[in-house]
Amino acid sequence: MEFSIKQSGPEKQRSGCVIVGVHEGGKLSTAGQQLDKATGHRLSDFIARGDMDGKPGSTLMLHHVENIAAERILLVGLGKAAEFTAKPFLDALRAIFGALQKTASKDAALYLIDFAVKGRDEAWKIKQTVMAAAESDYRCDQLKSKPADAPALRKILLGCAGKPSVAAQQALDQAVAVVHGMKLTKDLGNLPGNICTPTYLADQAKAIAKKHKLKVAVLEEKDMQKLGMHSLLSVTRGSHQPAKLITLEYHGGDKKQKPVVLVGKGITFDSGGISLKPGAEMDEMKYDMCGAASVLGTMQAIAEMGLKLNVVAVIPSCENMPGGSASKPGDIVKSMSGQTIEILNTDAEGRLILCDALTYAARFEPDTVIDIATLTGACVIALGHVATGLLSNEDKLAKELLEAGDHAHDRAWQLPLWEDYQSLLDSNFADMQNIGGRAGGTITAACFLSRFTKDYRWAHLDIAGTAWKSGKDKGATGRPVPLLTQYLIQRAQSVKQ
Ligand code: BES
Ligand code: MN
Ligand code: ZN
Repeated sequence: MEFSIKQSGPEKQRSGCVIVGVHEGGKLSTAGQQLDKATGHRLSDFIARGDMDGKPGSTLMLHHVENIAAERILLVGLGKAAEFTAKPFLDALRAIFGALQKTASKDAALYLIDFAVKGRDEAWKIKQTVMAAAESDYRCDQLKSKPADAPALRKILLGCAGKPSVAAQQALDQAVAVVHGMKLTKDLGNLPGNICTPTYLADQAKAIAKKHKLKVAVLEEKDMQKLGMHSLLSVTRGSHQPAKLITLEYHGGDKKQKPVVLVGKGITFDSGGISLKPGAEMDEMKYDMCGAASVLGTMQAIAEMGLKLNVVAVIPSCENMPGGSASKPGDIVKSMSGQTIEILNTDAEGRLILCDALTYAARFEPDTVIDIATLTGACVIALGHVATGLLSNEDKLAKELLEAGDHAHDRAWQLPLWEDYQSLLDSNFADMQNIGGRAGGTITAACFLSRFTKDYRWAHLDIAGTAWKSGKDKGATGRPVPLLTQYLIQRAQSVKQ
């Protein structure tokens, strides 16, 4: 899909479809009024007849309207003008692209960004529009023998009354980079475990590095042995696929500037290991590498933006499988940090690979480390599929991430990381055990990780509930690429000053 922003009048704009908003009560937007006038008040006729009541998310498609350059007009309901907040705006966008995808329009011109959305600026509206368009455009048919017909809609124009500002154009460019990153994240997430192996992820990282001139390195199991990453290696023991530790370095900032390190959980299939998971919906554990995929998507997005910041990706990747040499409940391993771990449940494997990756991350002398992981089923119980779980050893960082998530509408919610939870990880035989019981499962998982992140500022994003959708709409969401890129954009700005 291609996007552009320009000053244009809705009646003169050649397009497959021109889109204008209507508030509840029938009030047309300024662009809508212009269109209404040009068409001899056809729009207000339809509104007066009651075909469009302006309820949020309602649409009315009009064909063969005379005296305008576009082939169709789409009226979209925006709800009450006094209550025009983010939610009705996003509902309207979803309805618009849902309706457009049902037509043969090859292009569309939207006149929505001149509308004031409470508490949101123009850049936000532009970014959300691009994300909603890309979401409606996404198909995952790479493995179907006959791909479905490609969507007709190829070009989106954001029309505005005045000349678009530099900031508006920049917001559009950034949004396009974000949706490209999200597409990569979704594609990788949706691939099955027999194709998307640790080796496949490493090859993807190499391809991104080549295209965007990043530095890439892939550590093999023998290298990890030498580094003493026995916790990570304990997870891959039951698998025939070799484990990989992938690093990507993006140097967009000053040489001396300390990097942000993103660590992504890359379990390409999580069977649970010897603590085998139940069969129902086990296929969804192909998504257990969505943390890794979101880190790759974010790296690609910031490279495409040319962000002035240094960012490093660290991706530990392997499969978690049962087998004759798989780790067993009760096994004790020594992590790279020197701390020993009693593996009471082989299904709590994410923390076992992350802890060594977090120790390794210190090599990059980070300013901040953020790990992203489909870590606990408990997070889905706590926050459902709306918010990502966020825990941090620094409240200022937590706040910045929460704000970035809010801004990008890719929201997170903070959980406590209080000392009081740490004793749940006490073991009689090792420095700690890898599970803390059913209660507070997301918090005890983060407590485990916190024992490996003492030397730097760190935050943990548990995306177990937000990285993919189940059921009829099963598929990766591309989250939290919008949150992460927004955070990094804000950081690049604050470093500059
Ligand atoms: N990858 C899973 C977490 C998960 C489960 C994400 C379901 C999304 C949906 C993780 O490796 C895991 O199995 N966690 C266990 C931890 C438990 C054994 C302490 C869990 O959440 O059940
Ligand atoms: Mn598991
Ligand atoms: Zn897992």
